[in-house]
Amino acid sequence: MTIRVCVPKEVRAGEQRVALVPDVVKRLTAMGVSVSIESGAGESAGYGDNDYVGADIVSDQSTLYRSADVLMTVNPLTGAQIEQLKSGSILIGYLNPYSDTDRFKRLQEKNISAFSMEMIPRISRAQAMDALSSQASIAGYKAVLIASTLLGKFFPMLTTAAGTVRPSKVLIIGAGVAGLQAIATARRLGAIVEGYDVRAAVKDQVESLGAKFVDIDIKAEGTGGYARELTAEEKAQQQAILANHVAAADVVITTAAIPGRPSPKIITREMVERMKGGSVIVDLAAEGGGNCELTVPDQTIVHNRVKIHGPLNVPSTVSGHASELYAKNLLNLITLMIKDGNINIDLEDQILRDSLITHAGEVVSAAVKSRMEGGAK
Ligand code: NAI
Repeated sequence: MTIRVCVPKEVRAGEQRVALVPDVVKRLTAMGVSVSIESGAGESAGYGDNDYVGADIVSDQSTLYRSADVLMTVNPLTGAQIEQLKSGSILIGYLNPYSDTDRFKRLQEKNISAFSMEMIPRISRAQAMDALSSQASIAGYKAVLIASTLLGKFFPMLTTAAGTVRPSKVLIIGAGVAGLQAIATARRLGAIVEGYDVRAAVKDQVESLGAKFVDIDIKAEGTGGYARELTAEEKAQQQAILANHVAAADVVITTAAIPGRPSPKIITREMVERMKGGSVIVDLAAEGGGNCELTVPDQTIVHNRVKIHGPLNVPSTVSGHASELYAKNLLNLITLMIKDGNINIDLEDQILRDSLITHAGEVVSAAVKSRMEGGAK
């Protein structure tokens, strides 16, 4: 029987991305897979129903859910959406594995094989499926553009008849995927850029992009390439040095995250109060509470003439390319599972094993299971 892949219209408020774009649908149908798209699903990413050549366009959402062998989404499903899934089907998308774990109980009971795009391992072979990276890179780029529109200054040095304008100073805190793209973007706009991270390994990467690395002697490499949480002593040491760099910056972009934990608070109220009037902080970690003590998620506040912006879901604002890259990540992941026109979830494959949360009526992800058993929501 032909595998049916279905894509609903996203229901998260303000979401503009779509899980599959027309080019990727073409690739799937060429593999013998049939694709159904909910009418209007691609609209805000720039695709009309007619662009999805080869796909069935379905108007009724519950028909779409019930007929899906594989449902592909961007955002985690709501409880009501989960109820509509066909028992034994596959769900692939962001699942927000560290919060609201009750959803996984229901997915387990419905015998859904649920793949979390957040849990794709950060290994070389998985780069083509790595949605965290494809979307973080977009967020890093857009954060700089947002900062440039909030800042009442040019980024580049300009020599004009009325005098010379000095370039803006930009400090990027957290030089992972988003941070490195932010550094590259700020450099392209002509700013003087500094980058900081607790992982010493990124020093070379920061410098190769033409930025200066802020060296604070803290090495906080955790597992899986991620950072670990700092001790209270390390935090104090970090803040003492970082405060001077924050004070000198016109723009600070923060991207620091620890998987499964609230965003580390790195910029204190006192540090903000030492910044120049007109300076801007764009806190990309706002989704996890923010790296700045004063950040209010989804708002721009002004404190002592410093603007602090806490945007949510930044990749969605670059909906065309964000959807295109995400759709390719999904295609590359499902390609691992399709063998001779049939679905085969090979649990020997690290990429599939690590990203699978529920399967065969069990919660198979150790990380999610321990959260559920610990009563964490
Ligand atoms: P992330 O989104 O979890 O965090 C962003 C950055 O914040 C990280 O560089 C982290 O070290 C830093 N950070 C955390 N706490 C901090 C603190 N208190 N102060 C300053 N900085 C802090 O990280 P992301 O961007 O998802 O990357 C995580 C790791 O995965 C990196 O090592 C990256 O190179 C690696 N990676 C590997 C890939 C692969 O091999 N397939 C693909 C993408 C990323």
